[in-house]
Amino acid sequence: MTTTVESTKNHLMIGGMDTVKLAEQFGTPLIAYDTQDIVRQVKAFQQTFANHRIDGIVSYASKAFCVKGIYQLLAPLGVHADVVSAGEMATAFAAGFPASRLSFHGNNKSVDELTMALDHHLGTIIVDNFVELHLLQRLLQERDETIAIQIRVTPGVSAHTHQYIQTGQVDSKFGFDIGSGQADQALTEALADDHLEVRGVHAHIGSQIFESTGFVMAAEKLIELLTHWHEAFGYSAQVLNIGGGFGIKYVEGDDPQSPEDQLDTVLTTIEARLGNHHLEMPEIWIEPGRSLVGPAGINLYRVGANKRVPGLLPYVAVDGGMGDNIRPALYQAAYEPVLANHVEDSSKETIHIVGKYCESGDILVNEATLPVTKTGDVIALLATGAYGYSMASNYNRNPRPAVIFIDHKHASVVVRRETNRDILALDEDFKKSAAEAR
Ligand code: LLP
Repeated sequence: MTTTVESTKNHLMIGGMDTVKLAEQFGTPLIAYDTQDIVRQVKAFQQTFANHRIDGIVSYASKAFCVKGIYQLLAPLGVHADVVSAGEMATAFAAGFPASRLSFHGNNKSVDELTMALDHHLGTIIVDNFVELHLLQRLLQERDETIAIQIRVTPGVSAHTHQYIQTGQVDSKFGFDIGSGQADQALTEALADDHLEVRGVHAHIGSQIFESTGFVMAAEKLIELLTHWHEAFGYSAQVLNIGGGFGIKYVEGDDPQSPEDQLDTVLTTIEARLGNHHLEMPEIWIEPGRSLVGPAGINLYRVGANKRVPGLLPYVAVDGGMGDNIRPALYQAAYEPVLANHVEDSSKETIHIVGKYCESGDILVNEATLPVTKTGDVIALLATGAYGYSMASNYNRNPRPAVIFIDHKHASVVVRRETNRDILALDEDFKKSAAEAR
């Protein structure tokens, strides 16, 4: 558990530190992570692989939260990471994360991005489509270099939170289609090219998945494909990558199977199916993003104005909002709010917690029941660590918050708070064209 309540002061604690003091010291809005919560989840995945005596790679999906500090936390744990842009790659390099442990994802990798990946000898390119495959082949031929690839396929299983749709995912912008023979075609072309080391196959079925059924279905599809590839092309995969998507609890009522339990079930299925097909156990890769960093992070806000109209629920405004967490506005995502400076109280009221952005949709939590709030209080939203800061914006030219890591009861800034100078950094003065000035 990342957060606890300190009983004498009735304050919310994260990683053993008082959130009210953190808000004072570092200012608000503030994003705080308990590093040990991230470490614990990495180790739980690694232990699950070890229990099965399977060589497993935990490849962190950087998109969930991509700053230098997270790579520096994860690197010593032996974790890999996937990146999806030059910017994520540059962040990993700047953090000193080993390029050999990076894999490059994306459905439209540019020439510049692929060149950057080759220049830095990235561990793996996860090839998504024929345009990319041919571009990569051309670049490698020009340089006379080789690189390891995984072939991303669309397994025909999509997990939309709790529902599994067998055919839906076939209609997706990502990966080679299996049914129409495109995956076979990609494999044949790649195997024929000495510049490519075809390590294996990849699939990702969705995000915020609560139980293992979808993963099991996808793993079965992938094993069918590997069996076919073995029989038809004599190809033995070294890597089976089942992607990310393990779900987390955001609010009361969310009841996900733990990420490591989901993994455990999938590994059991993989062992059984491979045995049936007499295939050797490849290295199994997972790409968790949300499950590693989501539960470890909280957002801290200071309460400012409010609007109370008789007969209506009060609006209580905080000093952040959709700029630092777009998920409620974008996905109607729900979060658990806590009044950090007064966690427990018998008298409570139901309010809307809203942000400071100029949009009616800037609602962080609808109908939150909390102890009565007043200006100056600190409100925490829990489990905000994934896809919060990474999707933050400067809408309304608000600066993005600072991010701190709490590591063994020591707080340090991993991203400083933006200033107006940062916000203006890219602007150039507009000067009237000479022609018009005359
Ligand atoms: N691997 C691939 C190829 C992915 O596309 C993703 C996420 C992951 C791994 C990591 O999935 P995770 O373990 O984090 O569920 N912005 C959305 C989530 C988008 C996920 C995109 N792909 C949100 O805020 O819920």
